[in-house]
Amino acid sequence: MERLIQRYPDRTRMNHWLVAMLFVCAALSGFAFFHPAFYFFTALFGGGAWTRILHPFIGVFMMLCFVGMFVQVWRDNVWRDGDGEWVRRSGTLLRGDEDGMPAVGKYNGGQKAIFWLFTLCLVVLLVTGFTFWQPWFADAFPITVRRIGVLLHAVAAFILVLGAIVHIYAAIWVKGSIRAMTRGYVSAAWARRHHLLWYREVTGDK
Ligand code: HEM
Repeated sequence: MERLIQRYPDRTRMNHWLVAMLFVCAALSGFAFFHPAFYFFTALFGGGAWTRILHPFIGVFMMLCFVGMFVQVWRDNVWRDGDGEWVRRSGTLLRGDEDGMPAVGKYNGGQKAIFWLFTLCLVVLLVTGFTFWQPWFADAFPITVRRIGVLLHAVAAFILVLGAIVHIYAAIWVKGSIRAMTRGYVSAAWARRHHLLWYREVTGDK
């Protein structure tokens, strides 16, 4: 029988998938305003006016859900000695040689970097979003602040989408990871192979 180890409790998984679904909605509705070529995405949200009304609310809701997730996982994402070394040697991993990589805890340097990138981008999106949120908040900001806000909002959204693509690609690429977020469990073999220090910590095995 395959031995399973719990990686996520239900509350973290539900939070994660809420963030993921809201992220897709925020990204599609945001793309609709980004360039006329994407305007057709407004059809998914009830037309142009509704998309414009809903987008900021979807964004704020996503941020609130992410805060819940942040609280649950930030400690395991604190940068530690050895994470930089893991990132420097990640070329070895990409060439398919995981045995040559340093042992890692619950998350590797790449996952941690993506986690902090997500956090930074979401904070920038939230703060800048308020500077041009008509009709309630935008009037409180000078036009220059609003213009810079629009620009930074688009840059942060672009980086977040790239980060999410890397995150999803890695989740699919490392076989057995998706199950961590859908069922909450990973196999002991998965944990030993990809997160040896975490495996030792939770099982007590040497
Ligand atoms: C369809 C899209 C997504 C898929 C398939 C996916 C998949 C996964 C999987 C499999 C894990 C577990 C990795 C592990 O335990 O080693 C994970 C963790 C996580 N995901 Fe996602 N994810 C998606 C979207 C997102 C989005 C949009 C965000 C945030 C903007 C996000 C934030 C996180 C965070 C914070 C973790 C915890 C890992 C860490 O803190 O480094 N995910 N995801």
